[in-house]
Amino acid sequence: MTKPAQLPGLPADFRFGIGTSAYQVEGAVDQGGRGSSIWDTFCSEPGRIADGSSGRVGCDHYHRLDEDIDLVGALGVDDYRFSIAWPRVFPSGRGNVNAAGLDFYDRMVDKVLEAGAKPTVTLYQWDLPQALEDDGGWLNRATVDHFADYAEIVGARLADRVEHWIPVNEPSVVTTFGYGSGEHAPGKKLMLDGAPVAHHLLLAHGRAAIALRAAGATSIGCANNHAPVWPASDDDADVGASKIFDALWNGLYVEPMLLGRYPIDLAPLLEHVVFEGDLATIRQPLDFYGVNYYTPIRIGVSDAEAPMPFEFREVVGYPVTGVGWPVVPDGLREWLIMFRARLRAAVPPIYITASGCSYSADPDADGIVDDQERIDYHAAHLTAVAEAIRMGVDVRGYFAWSLLDDFAWPLGYRGRFGFVHVDHVTQERTRKRSFDWYAELIRTIRAGN
Ligand code: NOJ
Repeated sequence: MTKPAQLPGLPADFRFGIGTSAYQVEGAVDQGGRGSSIWDTFCSEPGRIADGSSGRVGCDHYHRLDEDIDLVGALGVDDYRFSIAWPRVFPSGRGNVNAAGLDFYDRMVDKVLEAGAKPTVTLYQWDLPQALEDDGGWLNRATVDHFADYAEIVGARLADRVEHWIPVNEPSVVTTFGYGSGEHAPGKKLMLDGAPVAHHLLLAHGRAAIALRAAGATSIGCANNHAPVWPASDDDADVGASKIFDALWNGLYVEPMLLGRYPIDLAPLLEHVVFEGDLATIRQPLDFYGVNYYTPIRIGVSDAEAPMPFEFREVVGYPVTGVGWPVVPDGLREWLIMFRARLRAAVPPIYITASGCSYSADPDADGIVDDQERIDYHAAHLTAVAEAIRMGVDVRGYFAWSLLDDFAWPLGYRGRFGFVHVDHVTQERTRKRSFDWYAELIRTIRAGN
């Protein structure tokens, strides 16, 4: 077993966290006054989810809040990241507030604090109220206004106790897979015509940051999915295609948030939806910049007739997780160093707001879930972070993804990212070996060893 003490160089005040998100764990989709979301609709469409499942039951976290947050306490993390389901607070996305929804998250915040962790709250982890999608969803600028109202209401209720706020989780994933390729809800296949979604999500980020700050929030950041984008070869065509994808995946979010501009090559895609003042709204002062990292992306040029000028190529030569994602901790260090070199003083303190892996070990006859690969994954990624810190990148913390084996979007329950195994029939929770390892690591580093 990897000994926590062998992990080099994380400062004693480095913050350790763990995360979940509402649709992935809560279940109870038609209880407590919750309205329906685009993921409820998407999952009900045949062929969308690998195992035909949905987040209808999830990990039944809505009913097992106490038990689950006790696990957070037992893990000993500094920070617990969870998301609020917009349709629990506003069943139709706007209009009347559902008091039971707000009460649930109020209880959650108190419970997390009682467990000895600080809450990090995400406002949007992809469960757009279906009623808003019916009006165009993130293609419709009016959704941004509704999101700002939602942020104001949640901020007014929780800002006195929440440590960190993340308005929008991974806008690149929503734009690319939700509205570009259709692999995520709402399943639109608009290719580059989905680009306005990125602008509206960025505006939503900015407007929510303003609303939260007005409600008294003191630490507001983001959680953007980033990856080094590697060209498939040194050929100019592949290099060119990889640069386009890099702009779409990374620059499209980094530049407006931190520099108040769009990558120059992408501006034409957005000019019809960007109004005066928008970029200033998006570029709110951020208290931290959250990076979600899983794996690098390799891109090659596509055929002339293809709908997009680039295509995904395999990243070869690395071990892969149980769902085939290459494990490349150096990619995290590479991205952090490149980010700092390119953006310099514009970069606020960084948190790794998610990183994790799916391996599907089940409890053995003794009830042990031996997930050594998960331990190795997190040890290697934390080592990469420590190296980046030594090279001058200001990384303050790391949120492992995820607390529980949850509903993993298109992978359904085939993806198992948790430190805690969940039997999706009985809902029984079993701490995996990685859970004990992470708890021990945190204790060791706190003790200054
Ligand atoms: C990051 C997403 O935010 C999270 O919801 C998802 O489960 C993990 N990536 C794994 O795909």
